[in-house]
Amino acid sequence: MAGQTAQKKKLVDLLNEDISAELTAALQYFYYGTMMTGVEYGPVKKDFLAHATAEMAHAVLLGGYVAYLGGQPTTTIGEIKKATDSREMLVDALEMEQAAVERYTKRVDQAKGAKEYALEERLEDILAEEQDHVMELKDLLG
Ligand SMILES: [Fe+2]
Ligand SMILES: [Fe+2]
Repeated sequence: MAGQTAQKKKLVDLLNEDISAELTAALQYFYYGTMMTGVEYGPVKKDFLAHATAEMAHAVLLGGYVAYLGGQPTTTIGEIKKATDSREMLVDALEMEQAAVERYTKRVDQAKGAKEYALEERLEDILAEEQDHVMELKDLLG
C-alpha cells in the first residue's frame, strides 16, 4: 500500500507539471491572440483565442484528477513570451505544443503504470488535441 501511495503522489506531481504548463499555455494564447496584428492573421487570432479556452479546459480536467488523487492543483505558471512579430508568435506556440505532446506521451504511460485507466484515456484525448494543435500550427507556418 505504501508503494501505491508513493506512486499516486508522484502522479500528482507530474499532473501538476501539466496543469502549470496548461495554465501558461492558456495565458500565452490569450496574450498572443489579443496582441496579434496584420490582416492576414485575422483567422489565426481567432484560433489562438479558441486555443486559450481549450488549454484552460485541459487544466480544469487534470485539476479534477489531482483532487481525486488526494493532491491540490497548482496555480503556478511559467514564463509568458511577449513576441511582437506575428510569425514569431506562431513559432512560440508551435514549440509550446510540441513540448505538450512530449509531456503527454510520457504521461499516458505513467498513468497506465499507476493503473489509473480513466486518467490514461483522458490523457490520450488531451494528447490527441495537442497533436492537432501541432498539425494546425505547422500548416499555418507553411
Ligand atoms: Fe493543452
Ligand atoms: Fe495545445
